[in-house]
Amino acid sequence: MALWSGRFSGGQKNELIEFTESVSFDKRLYSHDIDGSKAHVDMLASCRIIPAKTAKSIKRELEKIRKRIDEGRFKFTSRLEDIHMHIESEIIKALGDEGARLHTARSRNDQVNLDTRLYLRDESVKIVLGIRNLQRALVSQAENNSNAIMPGYTHLQHAQPVLFAHHMLAYVEMFSRDSSRLLDCLGRLNILTLGSGAIAGTTLPINRKKVAKDLSFPEISANSMDAVADRDFECEFLACLAIFAMHVSRLSEDIVLWSSREFSFVELADEFCTGSSLMPQKKNPDVAELARGKTGRIYGNLVALLTICKGLPMSYNRDLQEDKEPLFDSIDTVIKILSVLPPMLATMHVRKEKMLAAANNPELMATDLAEELVKLGVPFRKAHERTGALVKWCSSNKVPLNKVSFNEMKKHIPEANKALLKIFDPARSVSKREVDGGTGPCEVRSRIDYWRKKLQK
Ligand code: ARG
Repeated sequence: MALWSGRFSGGQKNELIEFTESVSFDKRLYSHDIDGSKAHVDMLASCRIIPAKTAKSIKRELEKIRKRIDEGRFKFTSRLEDIHMHIESEIIKALGDEGARLHTARSRNDQVNLDTRLYLRDESVKIVLGIRNLQRALVSQAENNSNAIMPGYTHLQHAQPVLFAHHMLAYVEMFSRDSSRLLDCLGRLNILTLGSGAIAGTTLPINRKKVAKDLSFPEISANSMDAVADRDFECEFLACLAIFAMHVSRLSEDIVLWSSREFSFVELADEFCTGSSLMPQKKNPDVAELARGKTGRIYGNLVALLTICKGLPMSYNRDLQEDKEPLFDSIDTVIKILSVLPPMLATMHVRKEKMLAAANNPELMATDLAEELVKLGVPFRKAHERTGALVKWCSSNKVPLNKVSFNEMKKHIPEANKALLKIFDPARSVSKREVDGGTGPCEVRSRIDYWRKKLQK
């Protein structure tokens, strides 16, 4: 029988039980639920709301339950709705009236909120550590291929030569913002909401600050209605994961492109590819494709939760039970991505010669030419126009920019000198870009060193 069955006559239909249960997915909160209950009974005893002896017995039974669930020896049933009911009824079964004191001055509304916050606190640490691992894989690729030059793209068109390491480090920067966003979010969710009761607090003389201290919450919530009603901390968490997934998806897309025959910039290790059941020659970058594809559900989960919360009247509504599956799914998906992406990147073979060959297109150095003219005193707009005219002549006469005669160059660029004929070298181009944040080798080297040190800790 359900623990709330007092005001009801008659049992529930199976369909209703199956429709309303959440234990099938919220059982993963058991350990956090037990931690919360232990701190709660300690506080109840210290405030003389329940006897100290009762608190002790409850805590002992809670640990037994934790062990049974850990070891897979605990039986779950949809009849008991959720994980909170399971643990409480087990305590009552073991301790009778003593156990019936556990739920004093507490509602499942503030309890579930506490559990989710405790859970997210742990998961965010796992994810941030996973992101560091991912960053390490990118930094070691940058380091091991620190002199590799590749074409940089804008609009997926050849733009300017860049160091491959610079490209890798661009993602390291993005992922570092993803981590710091999660840590910001953690700061906002690290608040004790227990003690809010169902909506209005309690008439019993509880001490919320003690519970906060025992569970390492630096703050307690200031409004009991806000505490049980809102899931903004979960929305924020999912938004952080969605932005992270967007970055993962872009990185994956680069890897997919680069491993195509047309680019051939990288080769993935066999263990991170799969074959085709039909075409014997195929070696597909499925891990990268799936990482890109899984971004869809991670975005979807954010939209699902925002939609669940939208338009709810104050304060707690059962709709809020629907928060967990999207939340858990995004976390599980991100953790899976973080388990495969770092080793896939770490074992990726970089084909420097292919990258350099692609970067050896003199048109990539057209900006360098225009900037040389600026150094000779030509206003940039004019320099751009003259260089553009030379590029146009070259392309209509099928002469590569680096093969143009000095006389021809002079026709389009009266300020030209012979040294300008020698600038069509990708290595020269990157080496000239030692500006803060640029792709110059020293600049990139120092950023590699920065990240290596930072990620060591
Ligand atoms: N399983 C519920 C949830 O996840 C716990 C809170 C239930 N509260 C209630 N008043 N029925 O939201």
